[in-house]
Amino acid sequence: MSLSREQMLVEMGVNPLWVVREPGGAAVAAATEPLPVEAAPAAAPVPVPTLALAGAPAVADGLDWPELARAVAACTACPLCQQRKQAVLGVGDLHPDWMFIGEGPGAEEDVQGEPFVGQAGKLLDNMLAALDIGRGNKVYIGNAVKCRPPGNRTPEAAEIATCRPFLARQIALLKPKIIVLLGKVAVHSVLHEDKSLGSLRGQRFDYAGIPVVVTYHPAYLLRNLPDKAKAWEDLLFARRVLRQGGGELL
Ligand code: URA
Ligand code: SF4
Repeated sequence: MSLSREQMLVEMGVNPLWVVREPGGAAVAAATEPLPVEAAPAAAPVPVPTLALAGAPAVADGLDWPELARAVAACTACPLCQQRKQAVLGVGDLHPDWMFIGEGPGAEEDVQGEPFVGQAGKLLDNMLAALDIGRGNKVYIGNAVKCRPPGNRTPEAAEIATCRPFLARQIALLKPKIIVLLGKVAVHSVLHEDKSLGSLRGQRFDYAGIPVVVTYHPAYLLRNLPDKAKAWEDLLFARRVLRQGGGELL
């Protein structure tokens, strides 16, 4: 890791968590000081809305980016619209090499309107910095669902399905060269796959001709620090797939 990047991470108030040894070489992570573990979300039980799905989002096919952004901001197609402060479309480079897809906005994201701005986001930013990329720099970051599930519960299958056309349109417009799925919900949404993450890591999947790899969600990594090394291996694997243009199977 270059000194300047290390200094930058110190400036950001986070310790470097990832050290690149050899690009494409030994996939070894050097996890240093752990980030403070995210406080457990205040788990006041929130009643799950029972509103019937009020029709899928108006067909997202054919929307350009500003139309898509407006459609997401105004969407009331699933119950997650009821308690959100705002829908969170995503952030980053609109011609990215990398697209990272998480689960859905949390409390901070709901307030700020940007994905991954809480503790999990700091870890994601560290991971990106170690790859010499960042939000807005060859990277787009989005989520499987655009509205915050109440109490940060896991989005339900029907909610993921209702929001999926928006994600599909984002991918079609962004045309990333690689998609990295962060956690089970993103895997479920994009690959329709419910196997364990452990069994899906290290493989190259395909979505509409775009290579897809799977890794752990940063919030999970904050609770399971030893698995950060595995996530780092996954990112190095993703970078190899990207560099090979997604052509050759590894
Ligand atoms: N977790 C996610 O999956 N997405 C966010 O935007 C924030 C936290
Ligand atoms: Fe619409 Fe998606 Fe928000 Fe549900 S989560 S209201 S489908 S934008």
